[in-house]
Amino acid sequence: MIDIQISKKNFWDNKVEGLIFLLKKDWQKSEEIKKIETEYYPHLKQVLEKHQFKGNLGDSFVLTATKDEELVQFIFIGLGKLDGAWDIELENLRRAVGSSVKLLKKLKIKESIINVAHEKIYDLEFAEIIKQIVISATLADYEFIKFKSDKKESEQNIKLFVCPGPEGEHTYVESLRSGLIIGQAANFTRSLADLPPNVLTPKVLAADAKQMADDLGLDFEVFGRKKAEELGMGGFLAVDVGSDEEGQFIILKYDSEKKDAPTIALVGKGVTFDSGGISLKPASAMSGMKYDMSGAAAVIGAMKAIAQLKPDVNVVAIAPAVENMPSGKSCKQDDIITFMNGKTAEIKNTDAEGRLILADALCYAEKFHNPDVIIDIATLTGACVVALGHSFTALMTKDEDLRLQLERFGWLTGDKVWTLPFYDDFKAAIKSDVADISNIGSKSYNAGTITAGFFLSNFVEKSKWAHLDIAGTADGVPGISYLSSYGATGAGVRLLVEFILNYGK
Ligand code: BES
Ligand code: ZN
Ligand code: ZN
Repeated sequence: MIDIQISKKNFWDNKVEGLIFLLKKDWQKSEEIKKIETEYYPHLKQVLEKHQFKGNLGDSFVLTATKDEELVQFIFIGLGKLDGAWDIELENLRRAVGSSVKLLKKLKIKESIINVAHEKIYDLEFAEIIKQIVISATLADYEFIKFKSDKKESEQNIKLFVCPGPEGEHTYVESLRSGLIIGQAANFTRSLADLPPNVLTPKVLAADAKQMADDLGLDFEVFGRKKAEELGMGGFLAVDVGSDEEGQFIILKYDSEKKDAPTIALVGKGVTFDSGGISLKPASAMSGMKYDMSGAAAVIGAMKAIAQLKPDVNVVAIAPAVENMPSGKSCKQDDIITFMNGKTAEIKNTDAEGRLILADALCYAEKFHNPDVIIDIATLTGACVVALGHSFTALMTKDEDLRLQLERFGWLTGDKVWTLPFYDDFKAAIKSDVADISNIGSKSYNAGTITAGFFLSNFVEKSKWAHLDIAGTADGVPGISYLSSYGATGAGVRLLVEFILNYGK
């Protein structure tokens, strides 16, 4: 576990083992480097140059020296070239912090302090910078070790001080608090998504969500097959019937104290394992399908943060959780099903199951919660991974304002989105000869991510709505130091929380 605090003292007055310097490409000009050279280590510049330290992102160098008669580690971490694009500068900062935390754990440095330049290299409030440092350090600390017999390596406690900004430590208490809440909420999402599918069944996901809701004072509701039948949720049931594990329709609610506050609904896909069903996936494509509940885990994690940060908006999270399995009871290709709003769909492929459970969840959100805005989040299509890879979540919406907000908060949090075209041309792709719509897009249209989005559009009538496809971003994202290249990322948590905190402001 990492314990992050804002230092009450100036950087140099801290008696800690590790002193971390985040250095830009022109690090030779750094005041800190000059200070180390004059007071602790005369030939520092030559040493760094000899070891090819260029200040690039990913560069690091550790030097053991003495300070105040104690052995200390001077840790130099590259920040890359900062040329004024705030989004890139901020992401570089998060990555430099991520590399720092990983290095501290590797070197088993128990106490350290990270130096953050006071000069205005970031076109942002320092409070926001502190918050982002705290979030990325918290994310970098996450490891999924529940099933490892030897946990010792990972279970070390480290303490990280962040040097105070120009205004002094007390100014940043709120940045530290919200940073910790958001980072830990994303890690909670990751800890759910990383669980294997034999452990995390729909019932276990519901129980974990309930535990969190009870601990933090959120309303919690859940129902299974019987109530889904009463509500006419033919989409949810079509996926659910094939499995021996009963599906759970999970609802978490946060009520703002503010009168007449708007309501935001978050809807997350919770397929605890996606075998494809009767349209069975080949083995290679089935591995990793435990992550098909990452949307549900994201909305549950976002609620964990919302419960503590108490925004002036009501938030309801809806997470339909099922297992998509082949059996004698499974839904079949050619089946026709009827959703909660009376619309019908022809099942042409049982592996396009996420949209079926989301369809009923969207209807449910509108019917029972009358939200101003709905954002759904799902590992919905393999096509999304082809189109965007792993570092952008696909965003589809017809609402210009939602698009701008989500894009902006994506850059701010590092939980980035890229907007795909959402034009009615694609609507015709999901026509069916025998039902209202087909559950897969026609081959001739391609663009499987967008046609899946259009399928969902049939189930939102009144609210402003945005759809997020996290198939590429929910797990296995390479090249980001504050995450790890395997396992869950908590995609969507940072984005949704920031969007909600700023809604209407
Ligand atoms: N869960 C998958 C999508 C997915 C694929 C997520 C790869 C993460 C990584 C989804 O249920 C699915 O199987 N979609 C099909 C839809 C197709 C049958 C129209 C797909 O993308 O192949
Ligand atoms: Zn599927
Ligand atoms: Zn799926």
